[in-house]
Amino acid sequence: MTSSSINNLTYTAITLDNVTALMPIENACHTHPWTEKLFRSCVGGRYFGDYAQTIDASGNSKIIGFYIGEYILGEATLMNICVNPIEQGQGLGNALLTQFIAQAKNLGGEQLWLDVRTSNTAAIMLYINHGFTEISRRTGYYPTATGYEDSIVMGKKLVS
Ligand SMILES: CC(C)(COP(=O)(O)OP(=O)(O)OC[C@H]1O[C@@H](n2cnc3c(N)ncnc32)[C@H](O)[C@@H]1OP(=O)(O)O)[C@@H](O)C(=O)NCCC(=O)NCCS
Repeated sequence: MTSSSINNLTYTAITLDNVTALMPIENACHTHPWTEKLFRSCVGGRYFGDYAQTIDASGNSKIIGFYIGEYILGEATLMNICVNPIEQGQGLGNALLTQFIAQAKNLGGEQLWLDVRTSNTAAIMLYINHGFTEISRRTGYYPTATGYEDSIVMGKKLVS
């Protein structure tokens, strides 16, 4: 993907009609992915999210990733962010996170939160680049193939 196609990304609000199409990306991105039922429970109401599409070489649109956030009383939490593995490392995670932050701001968000696996260096670096800092850790928060691993709770204040 070229930088111009990153600039040509389009964002569409996720509805229940999109969940089945997003599940392959969810399954490819996580060792312990959301079930479709859980994904559906994170659409609508206090949740917000977009999927991103671009146009491939044949002129067909393709979904490259998505994010889901939760907004409550001035605080927005990044619940999930995924870039299709074959599209990773080209700036799309940056683009999706920028869109999440912009949407959180539009909703009136003043404080952002997220949890990330301690082993997820790529995501941690992405968040640090966008101004998130470590606030605390949750012991054994995530399941792994052999047990559990801690989460890093990261936060970022939004200035208007
Ligand atoms: C995290 C994720 C969204 C990043 O998407 P991406 O499109 O690969 O990210 P980008 O190409 O925009 O890179 C953004 C930054 O992430 C960091 N990053 C990305 N891949 C990295 C890697 N392999 N190692 C270290 N840092 C990495 C870098 O800081 C990079 O910025 P830089 O290119 O200026 O150095 C993607 O890896 C993903 O979908 N992972 C699986 C799902 C997941 O773990 N989600 C997060 C749950 S908390």
